[in-house]
Amino acid sequence: MQNGTVLVVGSGGREHAIVIGLERSESVSNIHITPGNAGTGSIGTNHDIQADDLEGVCELAKAIQADLVVIGPEGPLVAGLADLIRSMGIPCFGPNASGAKIEGSKQHANELMNKLSIPTAQSMVTKDLERIQTVLSETPPPWVLKRDGLAAGKGVTVTSDVQVALEAASNAINTDGRVIIEEYMHGEEASILVLMDESGYIVLPPSQDHKRVKDGDLGPNTGGMGAYAPAPVVTEDVMSRTVDQIIKPMWQYFRGLKEPYRGCLYVGLMISNGIPRVVEFNARFGDPETQVTLPLVNSDIGLLLLSVSQGRVGQFEIDLSPLHAATVVLASEGYPGDTKIGRPIIGLNEGNDDEWTYIYHAATTKESGKYISSGGRVVSVTGISHSLEDALRKSYESIKKINLEGSHYRSDIGQRALRKR
Ligand code: AMP
Ligand code: GLY
Repeated sequence: MQNGTVLVVGSGGREHAIVIGLERSESVSNIHITPGNAGTGSIGTNHDIQADDLEGVCELAKAIQADLVVIGPEGPLVAGLADLIRSMGIPCFGPNASGAKIEGSKQHANELMNKLSIPTAQSMVTKDLERIQTVLSETPPPWVLKRDGLAAGKGVTVTSDVQVALEAASNAINTDGRVIIEEYMHGEEASILVLMDESGYIVLPPSQDHKRVKDGDLGPNTGGMGAYAPAPVVTEDVMSRTVDQIIKPMWQYFRGLKEPYRGCLYVGLMISNGIPRVVEFNARFGDPETQVTLPLVNSDIGLLLLSVSQGRVGQFEIDLSPLHAATVVLASEGYPGDTKIGRPIIGLNEGNDDEWTYIYHAATTKESGKYISSGGRVVSVTGISHSLEDALRKSYESIKKINLEGSHYRSDIGQRALRKR
């Protein structure tokens, strides 16, 4: 690809990080984003078509003569956007609906892992609330109840309260006709992003997200309040177990299918005493993990994503940076509950004052030249440096310069890794 035209589908910090990666790529000249945010709009052309408007996105890809379409979020992948883009003869980064089912259905993912003997939690699926009551009385808390579909990050309940567990189970049964109950896994979580197609796979540096809204991993779950990479909990031994017991079997499985998996396989791990088990698979890049992973890729991101889209990643020689990256998410007042939006964001430009600090926009719009918040996770600020401490310092120095009424961020991103020293 030379002077390539790339269409990125989505509007979060993840998509802004992909767009900045493409902007750095010599192979890419034109970047289009739909619908995008104020950050992506300052680099490429934003379009007013929502990511789940499959027909609209296809028409756009054709109209701009895209050489590559990169799909960020899970919704359109599960709905089959990648199938449609490929049927038009346009290379697409993101699996077909059949591959995206590993994220779209927890039951499917659990059955597949059992079939392939991939280490994960024991689980059971049922439509019978009495069976759930029996399990709750026979196993010690905490309990993990899951809905079997995309639920915008709200499908998992981890609780030690029997009433809360029963309510989650009955809600799931009423909505989906079934509920999944899983063994609770103790340990430390990590995320591994794997670029995969039928020719091979590339494992990107492991990262760690911070899902709870408050310092000390307290408060409700969010989409992710910060991340860092590489994550030292993924030791060489943990990585080699993960590759042998999880990534390779998944790759061999997908390679044997009629429709190859071409995209990012997100492996969410729980690591206990050096033993990794799968918490979840996602069919896409993580958010905010992408904001600390793509900056550690020195290769041309356009060519890298194109090679996955064309089934050639096995021949791609990736150049990874030895540096560290940390990102801190600035969230709106009330997030993840009743979120206050529509407020001016001051100081975004001041935060971006050196080439090793990136401000990734997520929920931002621009009105009359001013930035306005438009959702829960507003921006994430990534620092990159020779050490995690310094990457965090850059990120925190920069986020302090951003002013958004009522906003909040965690002040302990990366502390778990620093304590391990
Ligand atoms: P998921 O959407 O499956 O990633 O679940 C969201 C979060 O719930 C995970 O990041 C974990 O923190 C927690 N979780 C999910 N499943 C389990 C499990 N079986 N054991 C312990 N924690 C879990
Ligand atoms: N950060 C978690 C996710 O992207 O699913």
